[in-house]
Amino acid sequence: MFIRWKYVIAAAIAAPFIGLFVAWSGVFGIGASSGHWAITDWFLHWSMRNSTRTAALGTEVPPLDNPEMLPLGAGHYAQACAMCHGSPAQGRPAVVFGMLPVPPDLKDDIPTWTDAELFQIVQHGVRFTGMPAWPVQTRPDEVWAMVAFLRAMPSMDAERYRQLSGVHADNGGADDGRLTCASCHDENRLNGRSLIPSLAGQSEAYLRESLIAYAQGNRASGVMATAIHGMDATETGEFAAYFAQQPRRPAVPEEGNPRGADIAAGRVLAMTGRPEDRIPACLSCHEKPDGNPLYPSLVGQSVPYLSRQLHLFREGERGGTRFSHLMARAAHELTDADIENLSAYFASGMPQQ
Ligand code: HEC
Ligand code: HEC
Ligand code: HEC
Repeated sequence: MFIRWKYVIAAAIAAPFIGLFVAWSGVFGIGASSGHWAITDWFLHWSMRNSTRTAALGTEVPPLDNPEMLPLGAGHYAQACAMCHGSPAQGRPAVVFGMLPVPPDLKDDIPTWTDAELFQIVQHGVRFTGMPAWPVQTRPDEVWAMVAFLRAMPSMDAERYRQLSGVHADNGGADDGRLTCASCHDENRLNGRSLIPSLAGQSEAYLRESLIAYAQGNRASGVMATAIHGMDATETGEFAAYFAQQPRRPAVPEEGNPRGADIAAGRVLAMTGRPEDRIPACLSCHEKPDGNPLYPSLVGQSVPYLSRQLHLFREGERGGTRFSHLMARAAHELTDADIENLSAYFASGMPQQ
C-alpha cells in the first residue's frame, strides 16, 4: 500500500493538540456515575494486578502466624478500612457504591493475592482509585499485622471480628459499632505477647506528649496516627489523665522464654550499661521513682512491644517526645541479643537474681 508519509507525520504532530483540545473543551466526562466501559474496567484491573505482582517481587514475608497480629490488624481495620470495604460484622455503607471503582468486598478478593502482594497494596495504596496508602511508610511491621488479619478475615464471623477488633456492639448492630482507645488498650485485652502497649499508670506527661508526637508525625505509627486524628489538646489531655490514674500493670513475663533470652545478662546491662560500646545504664533513667516523668516505665510492657520499640530506636525510626533523642542514642549500639535480654529483663519485673 502506498503511504503518504506527509499525512502520517502531520497526524502524529496534530494528535497531542487534538487531545489537549478535547481536554480543554470539557466534553470528556469525569463523572463517576456512568461507570467505566467494560474494556476500560478490564484494562485498569489488569494493569493494577500486573503492577502489584511486579512490585511485590523480592518482598521478604515475615512469619504471619502470630495470633497477636490479629487484634492490632482488626482494630485498625475497623477504624480505617471498614468504612469502604465493609467487615464481617457489616456490609459496605451505601455511599461507597457511588465511588468509581467501588471498593470491593475483600472476602472474595483476598484469596486471589499473595501475602507479598497484599503488603504492597496496603502499604502503598492504589493510585486513581481512592485506596489509600498506609499513613506512614516506615512501619512495615504494622502493615504485616494487617496482612495477617486480612488473611484470616474471609473465614471470620461477625462475633469473632467484634471480639478481635474490640468494637463495642452496643448500638443494636446498626453499624460496626464504636472503636475507642480501650478497644485496643484495655488491660483485659492485653497479655505477655501483645503488640499493643499498656498505658495504665504510665505518667500523664509521657502519655500526653506521646499523643502529641503521633499527631505531629514525630513518632511514626499509622495505627496511632489514625486513632488520634482530629483530636484537640483538651481531648489529648483527658485521655492521658484517664490512663495515668489507672493502677500500673504488674510485670508480664513471656511464658517459657520462647526467645531464649538471658535475663541475667539483661540485668547487668540495664544496671551498668557497657561503656566500651557507649551504652548507658538503662536504670540511670528508667524506673526511678523520682525520675523525669517523660522517661516511661518499662515494667508492665510485653517482650514483643519492648523489643520492637528498641529495634525502632536503634534503626532511627522511632521519635517521640523532646527527649526521644536520648533514647535513640542509648539504643544505637545494642545488638539483637542485647535487645532480647533487656526486653525479657524488664518484662519480668526486673528480678534481682
Ligand atoms: C476510601 C475508600 C477506601 C479505604 C478507606 C480503603 N480502601 Fe482498600 N480499596 C479501595 C478501592 C476503591 C479499591 C479498588 C482498587 C482497584 O480496583 O484497583 C481497594 C482495593 C483494596 C484491596 C485490593 C482488592 C482487589 O482485589 O482489588 C485491598 C487488599 C484493600 N483495598 C485493603 C484495604 C485495607 C486493608 C484498608 C485499610 C487500611 C483499605 N483497603 C482502605 C478503597 C478503599
Ligand atoms: C487499633 C488499635 C489502637 C487504637 C484504637 C488506639 N491505639 Fe494507642 N497504640 C496502639 C499501638 C499498636 C501502639 C504502639 C505504636 C508504636 O509502635 O509507636 C499504641 C501506642 C499508644 C501510646 C504510646 C504508648 C507508649 O508506651 O509509648 C499512647 C499514649 C496511646 N497509644 C494512646 C491511645 C489513645 C489515647 C487512643 C484513643 C484515642 C488509642 N491509643 C487508640 C494501638 C491502638
Ligand atoms: C538518658 C535517659 C535514658 C536512658 C539511659 C535510656 N532511656 Fe529508654 N527512654 C528514654 C526516654 C526519654 C524515652 C521516651 C522516648 C519518647 O520520647 O518517646 C525512652 C523510651 C524507652 C522505651 C520505649 C517505651 C515505650 O513505652 O514505648 C524503651 C523500651 C526503652 N526506653 C528502653 C531502654 C533501655 C533498654 C535502655 C538501656 C539500654 C534505655 N532505655 C536507656 C530515656 C532513656
